[in-house]
Parts: sequence; structure tokens; C-alpha cells
Amino acid sequence: MHVTKLSLRDFRNYREQTLELSPGTNLIYGQNAQGKTNILEAVYMFSQGKSHRAKSDRELIRFGCVGARAALSFETSERSYRAVMSFMKNGKKSIKINNIQIKKLSMLMNYLNTVMFSPEDLSLVKGSPSVRRRFMDLAISQLFPKYLTSLIDYNRALTQKNSLLKELKRSGSRSDVMLSVWNEQLSAEGARIMRYRAEFIELLGKFAAGIQNEISGEKLELGYSYGIRVNEITPEAFFEALEKEQRREIELRTAVYGIQRDDIEIKINGNDAKLYASQGQQRTAALTLKIALSDYICSIKDEYPVLLLDDIMSELDRSRRLYLAEKIKDKQVLITSTDTDILKSTADTKLFYVQDGTVEVR
Ligand SMILES: Nc1ncnc2c1ncn2[C@@H]1O[C@H](COP(=O)(O)OP(=O)(O)OP(=O)(O)O)[C@@H](O)[C@H]1O
Ligand SMILES: [Mg+2]
Repeated sequence: MHVTKLSLRDFRNYREQTLELSPGTNLIYGQNAQGKTNILEAVYMFSQGKSHRAKSDRELIRFGCVGARAALSFETSERSYRAVMSFMKNGKKSIKINNIQIKKLSMLMNYLNTVMFSPEDLSLVKGSPSVRRRFMDLAISQLFPKYLTSLIDYNRALTQKNSLLKELKRSGSRSDVMLSVWNEQLSAEGARIMRYRAEFIELLGKFAAGIQNEISGEKLELGYSYGIRVNEITPEAFFEALEKEQRREIELRTAVYGIQRDDIEIKINGNDAKLYASQGQQRTAALTLKIALSDYICSIKDEYPVLLLDDIMSELDRSRRLYLAEKIKDKQVLITSTDTDILKSTADTKLFYVQDGTVEVR
């Protein structure tokens, strides 16, 4: 799939701007703080419904304006789409695809697929488990809207359970019927989420192993580190495991067992990458994971996602850069950089020069 046109109005530092994008490489360059990442951010928003970096949609509205609007045209091999998103200062938000109002975030998923790779992703390997869970959640939600729905329901029940646990500890209880009710809900959604995650990690691991081997000759393995010990992934087993921990969870006043503690284990040449990977190995593994994710999405959708590479080339050494360039050769990619030297520009590289919120095709 590829995006053909992006229009922005009062979005970040853009007043009014339209970009016609090439189905190949689009190099967006310019000095710092000119608005390069803002363009990637806008495209990304159409795949996940929210920004990869803003805490609130309000940040996206140009200073002094009452609302922002972004429109994106994109195509798959089957059809073309036009999506429009707007947010107002008063919190109102609207997303339409081909003129149909998108009422829930889960309805937006599965139209446009993107994979963003930015310097912050270098913390994928050594960052806290929440970084890898987020990676996994964003990836799976893009493909399976049901996953997102389950995740939302699970988190809602988890919040309720946590406040109940605090109350129970205060009143000195050791078990509770209501706690079992929440555990039952958590088990139904939790087992479903676990199944998705298990399959994701297994498939992603296969792609990643091949890629890492091609890049560095190292052996990369991914594993699923379960936040709850179950013999099999079923709601019943999940429930049983949770119920066994009632006393301990009341004691700790918080829900410590469940998918909220899941993690992805990453091993390089047999060693836990979180503990032992060098800087370079972390970079390579992060690159590997992102490319693997793109290949994985393609294997499911039969369409390669749009790649959004934010200032990443300067973080990679020459051989990794070449590997990446080769890999993205026939894909659509939007890539930002402060200079144009990072890519061997080919005839189908489209150059966009960004200066203070205006874009000029070069
Ligand atoms: N809501 C907003 N209204 C107006 N300007 C904004 C808004 N949000 C961000 N900006 C401006 O946008 C600019 C940053 O844009 P962006 O992050 O795209 O820069 P960049 O070109 O990617 O820079 P770098 O090379 O440093 O990453 C900053 O000058 C910032 O002040
Ligand atoms: Mg930037």
C-alpha cells in the first residue's frame, strides 16, 4: 500500500500544506525544528488514530488556532481511500474514511498500515518491558481490531480490580467474591490477548531471525515471557492461576499477575540482549525488529506497510544503512534527515525541502 497525498491545515507548524508523495522513496530534509517529523506524525496518525509522540491531540493544533485538520489519500492494490481527521481545541475529534465516520479507534485499524522507526526505538531492546508491550500492542492492533477491543476491556477490568484490591487490604480481607468476578473477566480477555501475542512473537521471531542473520550473522531469538504462569492458554487456566494468587495480590494491593506483566525476551547468540547487548547490537536488533514487523504485516495483509523512518539513517553505520536501503528499495518510504547525503538518490527518490512549516519539492 502507499500514500499518495497528504494535506495539512493548522497541524503543528503547518498553516496550509499539501504533499504529493511518490510510491517509492520520499526524502524529507531540512534543518532541525522545521517540521519534518510533523509530516511523518500526520501520516502515522491515520494508522493508529493518535500521534506516536503527543500526549494529547491538542498539541497537534497550531499555536493560536482553534482546530487542526489532516487529510490523507492512500491506495492498496484493491482500492483507494481518502481519510480526514480533525481535532478541535475543545476536545472534539472526528475521523472519516471515504466519508464514513469512524466511531471507535478499533474501526480505524486495518485500513492504513505503517511502521515508524525513530531514534527512540533504540530503547526497544534495553528499555523497560512496557516499551516492548507497547510495540507489540500497536503492531497487533493494526492488524486485528479485535485485539484492541480486548485490550481496552482488559485494562478497564484491571483498573477496577486494582481499586478493589486496595479496598480489600484496608478492610483486612483475604479473599473476595467480587475479586473473582473481575478475575473472570480478565481471564476471558487475557487468554485471547495471550493467544494473539504468542502467535505474533512466534511469527515475528521467524522473520527477525532471518534478518538479523543477514545483517550481522548473529543468532536472534524472540520468546514470550508470560506475566502469568498457565499450563495452556485458555480462560479457565488463566482464571485458575489468578485465583490462586488472591491473597498475595490483596497483600500487595495491586494486580501483579496477568498480561500487564508480559514481556518479549530477546536473545542474541544465546544471551539475554537486555543484559548483555552492546550499543551496536541494540541498534541492529531494533532495526531487525522493525523490518521484521514490516515483513510480518506484509505476510498477513499481502501489502507492504508504509515505512516512516524518522532520522534513523544517521544512527546506523554504513553496512546497516546499505542493508536498509536495499530492503526498502521497492517499498514506499518517507524518510527524514537533516541532509540529502544519507541516501544514494535514485531517479525515483522524491525530495522535499522543509523550512519553517513550508515544503518545497526539489
Ligand atoms: N502545535 C504547534 N504549533 C506550532 N508549531 C508547533 C506545534 N507543535 C510543534 N511545533 C513546532 O514544530 C517544530 C518541530 O517540528 P518537527 O518535530 O517536525 O521538527 P523536525 O524538522 O523533525 O526537527 P528535528 O530535525 O530536530 O527532528 C518546532 O519548531 C515546534 O515549535
Ligand atoms: Mg524530527
